[in-house]
Amino acid sequence: MSEELLRQVKVNGSVPAHVAIIMDGNGRWARERALPRPFGHKAGMKAVREVVEGALAAGVEVLTLFAFSQENWQRPADEIGALMDLLQEYIAREMSELKAQGVSVRFLGDLERLSPGARAAIDRLMTHTAEGGRLALNICISYGSRAELARAARLLAEDAVAGRLDPAEITEEAVTRRLYTAAWPDPDLLIRTSGEFRLSNFLLWQLAYAELYVTPVLWPDFSRKQLFEALLAYQRRDRRFGKVSA
Ligand code: FPP
Repeated sequence: MSEELLRQVKVNGSVPAHVAIIMDGNGRWARERALPRPFGHKAGMKAVREVVEGALAAGVEVLTLFAFSQENWQRPADEIGALMDLLQEYIAREMSELKAQGVSVRFLGDLERLSPGARAAIDRLMTHTAEGGRLALNICISYGSRAELARAARLLAEDAVAGRLDPAEITEEAVTRRLYTAAWPDPDLLIRTSGEFRLSNFLLWQLAYAELYVTPVLWPDFSRKQLFEALLAYQRRDRRFGKVSA
């Protein structure tokens, strides 16, 4: 079934080069099963594996996942602890497979706030997979888009004060180059699960012209099949970038 969808995606061509995902609904998935919230996050880890495999199969070049926001630091300590443990479990389990598949992983966000153990695991994964050339996987952790933009403004100001940058040269491109995502093109497609129509402070600058796809499916139930359905929906869109159709 999902293989037939993949075949259609390939026949249509125009696979989005960059897909971003707000992985939402882990808590509701757990609640529906009368389980504690961390069980939802654990099930969500399996969905991460599914979308990485699906992105590789479809030929997506960049996949950016929102795993933990700056606001998420306000969650109960036991849930934050469970998420950090899960991150380290994910890294331990998936590192060799990610490398073997040609996936290079980067973590984007205010990583200073992570525990030393989580930092070390993240650094290990980034170093180990740095050569991967098939898929760039960005995992946003301790990430907030407004904070990212404020950081870019700070970097620009520092360059201006030091005389390295004329304020007249502060263009959109100059801002883009100071974002965590500077190395990649903007997302073509944003997927949000669990039926919420919000950006939640995710990639506000970068999503300016992204196509939005919201599905009611809760993140732990998201699989290759749902990813391919989202790619097919994207392929039916008419992207105009503010111009008129060709
Ligand atoms: C949102 O659901 C999800 C998160 C805050 C965490 C996302 C984490 C994972 C998918 C697992 C680990 C990921 C990696 C990359 C190892 P929610 O808790 O806000 O759900 P709710 O809105 O239903 O309460």
